[in-house]
Amino acid sequence: MEKKIVLSGIRATGHLHLGNYYGALRNFVEMQQEYDCRYFIADYHSLTTQPDASLLNDNVRSILAEYLAAGLDPNRCMLYVQSDVPETCEFYTLLNMHAYLGELEKTVAFKDKARKQPNNVNAGLLTYPVLMAADILQHKAHYVPVGKDQLQHLEMARNFANRFNHFYGCDFLVPPYPYEAKGEPVKVPGLDGSGKMGKSEGNCIFLNDDDRTVERKVRKAVTDMTPTEPDSPMSEPIQNLFVLLRLVAEKSVADQYLAAWNDCSIRYGDLKKEIAQGIIKVISPMRERYEQLYADTDYLNKVRREGAERVRAIVRESLDEMRRLMGIRMF
Ligand code: TYM
Repeated sequence: MEKKIVLSGIRATGHLHLGNYYGALRNFVEMQQEYDCRYFIADYHSLTTQPDASLLNDNVRSILAEYLAAGLDPNRCMLYVQSDVPETCEFYTLLNMHAYLGELEKTVAFKDKARKQPNNVNAGLLTYPVLMAADILQHKAHYVPVGKDQLQHLEMARNFANRFNHFYGCDFLVPPYPYEAKGEPVKVPGLDGSGKMGKSEGNCIFLNDDDRTVERKVRKAVTDMTPTEPDSPMSEPIQNLFVLLRLVAEKSVADQYLAAWNDCSIRYGDLKKEIAQGIIKVISPMRERYEQLYADTDYLNKVRREGAERVRAIVRESLDEMRRLMGIRMF
């Protein structure tokens, strides 16, 4: 039986953080055993916030090294950089003809970014979901491992696929679905009491943070007064700490802390130590492999070149079919 196709990516905006790991990368590693996986570094997408051009290349390099350090194996999956596959741009252009201003303007991530960078509401930001759909649809991917924050973009990719198929009377594009190995897609919270962990939120633990940095960041995480009455409602900052604890600690340990919270005997200092130790256990082996990989320019270039070659051959076929369906032919 043919393996189902998986596609996912992470923007090239700096080091990966725990949100990227639990929302995406952890699933990337697990899925490569069972699926036909293609993973990339979304450097075009990172340009929507117009980062410093002198940093982009290094961000791509560090993410590639982080992918490999987390256990992605170029012999078992395809690893590539989005801009090494320029076919994506043509696919995106063609798909844009069936994406509507109204739906793009309503996207939560777009509205959020437009609020954060009011002087830079560029067309790339508006059509971000179309480029993401092009990434996915050109592979005819069945599944996309993403965190909760990306579910709307994925729903839009499904809409674009269904709309295109309906318009041209074909079943060429495959509507993609989210994938999370442990059930529900996760939202990793930040350490600042509310919202998700994210680069632009400035509340991240990075995969290459050293032990002391992790301990310091977790120690400073927002809490509230310890509970004084059993069964009082749990505030958002404390709920967030429990989400982190459940991600990095054994279930029995997390249950123990919850029981201590319920009977008001919890000490937040201990809870934070437990979380920091759990995080360090997850990230420290990756950090060590990362240092070696990051320094190995020849190997990184080889992985990047070979990944792009394999992917270009595949997406070229999709693009040719897309062009044909839309009426682009030789005389
Ligand atoms: P990016 O770089 O914002 O996020 C990359 C991945 O990390 C997940 N993620 C989180 N998951 C849970 N909790 C968090 N706090 C958290 N922060 C980040 C995101 O869900 C995402 O899976 N648009 C994509 C990049 C992209 C893409 C694609 C992904 C471009 N084309 C095609 C899949 C398929 C993004 O937001 O990246």
